[in-house]
Amino acid sequence: MKIDILTIFPNMFNSIFSESIIKRAIEDEKVEINIYDFREYTDDPHKKVDDTPYGGGGGMVLMPQPIFDCIDSIKTKESKIILLTPDGVPYKQKIAYDLSKEKHLILICGHYEGFDERIRTICDMEISIGDYILTGGEIASMVIVDSIVRLIPGVIEEKSHINESFNNKLLDYPTYTKPRSFRGLEVPEVLVSGDHKKIEEYRKEESLKRTKLKRPDLLD
Ligand code: ADE
Repeated sequence: MKIDILTIFPNMFNSIFSESIIKRAIEDEKVEINIYDFREYTDDPHKKVDDTPYGGGGGMVLMPQPIFDCIDSIKTKESKIILLTPDGVPYKQKIAYDLSKEKHLILICGHYEGFDERIRTICDMEISIGDYILTGGEIASMVIVDSIVRLIPGVIEEKSHINESFNNKLLDYPTYTKPRSFRGLEVPEVLVSGDHKKIEEYRKEESLKRTKLKRPDLLD
């Protein structure tokens, strides 16, 4: 998979892609990630990428030209173009699964007060990572990349994400590791019983219990 990210703050991405699982996925050629500074695509002699809104009002608005030109130079028939915006569809694990099967994603990070409405016309999808306003789409695009890359086959063990939260609309069951007793807190007996059928039942029950308690909306 190839992921191209359009931003005017390319340095924000320096650490996230050079650590841990994403770093390994890049090294193993499971994913290629490119950062495009769309300021480099502006026609403006002063490298401007934004201007004041028509009709008045505060703040600066990203102009369409640099983004359109950048997209024109990188998109192919296989590209899926995604705009990060607080009024996009709420991001969910199901969307992460679907996107992890795409060949080429292009993520556009908006900034400042907003972006020219015409930018939406070149996008296949608009995504919001939650009902709050970030200073720009950069952190949102990092969230999307992180959640997608781990789902690409061979990046992490499949069994690590088969039972994780949000699959089957349930939260994950509780897990424990050594020691068996820690500061008076004990590992549930069933997990050390060696009885795999009982362990599976316990995990299903706990998953359901936890979802009912913490996220009843997932069961609706
Ligand atoms: N840009 C600003 N806020 C955002 C959000 N919540 N989701 C996606 N992109 C954004």
